Amino acid sequence: MWEKEFNLTDRNSFGFNVKAENYAAITQIDTLESALADIAENNWPLLVLGGGSNLVLRQYIPGAVISIANMGIKVLADDEDLAIVEVGAGENWHHFIGHLLEMGLHGLENLALIPGNVGAAPVQNIGAYGVELADCFHSLTAYDRQTQSLVQLSLDECDFGYRDSIFKSAEQGRYIIWNVRFKLSSVFVPRLGYKALADYVLGKDNAPPTAHDVYKAVCDIRSSKLPVPTEIGNAGSFFENPVVAEKQYFELKDKYPNLVGHKDSAGLYKLAAGWLIDQAGWKGYVHAGVGVYDKQALVLVNRGKGTVDELTELSEMIFDSVKQKFGISLCIEPRFYPA
Ligand code: EPU
Repeated sequence: MWEKEFNLTDRNSFGFNVKAENYAAITQIDTLESALADIAENNWPLLVLGGGSNLVLRQYIPGAVISIANMGIKVLADDEDLAIVEVGAGENWHHFIGHLLEMGLHGLENLALIPGNVGAAPVQNIGAYGVELADCFHSLTAYDRQTQSLVQLSLDECDFGYRDSIFKSAEQGRYIIWNVRFKLSSVFVPRLGYKALADYVLGKDNAPPTAHDVYKAVCDIRSSKLPVPTEIGNAGSFFENPVVAEKQYFELKDKYPNLVGHKDSAGLYKLAAGWLIDQAGWKGYVHAGVGVYDKQALVLVNRGKGTVDELTELSEMIFDSVKQKFGISLCIEPRFYPA
């Protein structure tokens, strides 16, 4: 089952030149179990690879890399206007969103065009344009490496937060997500809390937007700001939007009246990291083979022959300068592997 010295250059969205010591694509639970037995026997470190779009892979990945290629989208229950849809971890996220649109099942339109696979989506509770995966999440099936069995995890058990879940923090490495279930509605209710989206959708005419209008608007807005990974290597937002206390927010707002931030549900203030980095003068900056995207300062890019070391240097320079100018410590969003 294992492919040796497997090239992962087109399996990580930064497009870094990376090799895995052992690689396997897994489509069946019994193959997963024998792969895990090999991993235990050889004492290999394990990376479970999704779409590779929220990862920074170092040149050589020792041990094992497995890619979960469990496919399929099926409607499990369809009751009045509510449906439960189950989707395999190996499905491409954007393809899944397009499929839901065709089926007339709504709730996830705002998450169109997010790169990556379905199995990776719960790990960081992907979110965009005022919607998070958790808003439509029902449950998931995962292989529990601790009990060596398949388990079902509910919304509460996943403990989703902003770009966070048990899969990323408390239980990192324990579960291998196999499929995910969402609760979706046949009645479309546009979610236009995000101003740029509302302006775009409502700006055209006064007719209420359809699901297709919102889907198309999200795709257009994303494409105008975010580089397509197959053209320019990147992992989306490189830093999380920092969350600060009210006092710090108003102190900063006094000093920088154009500061972009909004109050979150916990009464704290989430600041736009892209704005902070932009104001610190980094937009479009080039550092050797990597750089800061010129249309969105939150996105770091591989200009072609960039390396992880160069990316680390650039991110440290940005971290220091934002810290110095605003007193804010940015947190890196993608996972570096090996750590
Ligand atoms: N801004 C600037 N300069 C920049 C970038 C942004 O001034 O270079 C300002 C914008 O004008 C805007 C504000 O910062 O007022 C926020 O920017 P944007 O709307 O682009 O959203 P974001 O906060 O930068 C977050 C997510 C994105 C998601 C968008 C839309 C995080 C870390 N990022 O970005 O997620 O697509 O909102 O909801 O929360 C990702 O995670 O990879 C990702 C792309």
